[in-house]
Amino acid sequence: MKIAIIGTGNVGGTLALELLGLGIEQLLLIDTIPNLAEAKALDLEDALAVHRYNRCVNIRGSQNIEDVVNSNIVIITAGFSRRAGMTREELLKKNALIVKEISLKIKPLCPQAIILVVTNPVDIITYLVLKTINFSRQRVLGIGTNLDAARFANLISRQLNIACSDIETLVIGAHGETMLPLERFTAIRNLPLNNFIDDKNIKKILEETVNRGTKIVSRYSTGSAYFGPAVAIARVIRAIINDEHIKLGVSAYLDGEYGSKDICIGVPCILGKVGIENIVELKLNSYETEFFLKSIDSINQQKEILKRDGIL
Ligand code: LAC
Repeated sequence: MKIAIIGTGNVGGTLALELLGLGIEQLLLIDTIPNLAEAKALDLEDALAVHRYNRCVNIRGSQNIEDVVNSNIVIITAGFSRRAGMTREELLKKNALIVKEISLKIKPLCPQAIILVVTNPVDIITYLVLKTINFSRQRVLGIGTNLDAARFANLISRQLNIACSDIETLVIGAHGETMLPLERFTAIRNLPLNNFIDDKNIKKILEETVNRGTKIVSRYSTGSAYFGPAVAIARVIRAIINDEHIKLGVSAYLDGEYGSKDICIGVPCILGKVGIENIVELKLNSYETEFFLKSIDSINQQKEILKRDGIL
């Protein structure tokens, strides 16, 4: 198994560290900044030695994207991260151009790969990768709402002092201001959330879930969250390489599911070695549907911007 991470900033680097424990044979780091990927690869080798793993992992850093050849999984984190005061959407054009170029380059080099998109705004960038690379929709997915679901669970956990392992959460929609944390699909030890928290506090937690990424950006001030995102990506990769058939929220291409077509958006999916095995269609009520449609609208607006500028 060869995994390539394109973009080895905070997210890519932390992700690489997470992946060391997953039993892969080859880990390739790519970055356009001279020496950065190589430095991280050397540093990671040392981390591996400290762990005293009972097997070898070939870790390489390179500036040359051609090295992604024959990768089984490619993770695209390249691009600019959010700065304080910036929305994910403001990154759109800058990152779309970078990721389009990467997609065109990797397409012939690893035609069987599963592509995980991390670059923000992740839903429209996932769509751009899918359209550019033209792989099956099973093999192009974006990361976001599994992180948002973890953030939702964390906030509940802190409020109630109950471990996250006892808390089921779900977030759908765009990984952005219009995401929809689903209170109705949230359970604590299989009981509904409102058995534990009153409506006023639930509302606050829902808002905090949506704003969590922005809060972290404003504290870092020169970059965005990376521990949470890196672990969220690693979780998806683990589900794929272990063929887990587990349900996780990822940005997936809809072709009629949820009554929508031709869009990538966060929905629960069953993940396994093929990538997306299945999209799970939840029965949304009218309130949830209305919000989900708003999220679709926000991504469609981004699509129009990319079309207008000839990027899509
Ligand atoms: C976040 C950014 C990485 O949610 O999208 O923290």
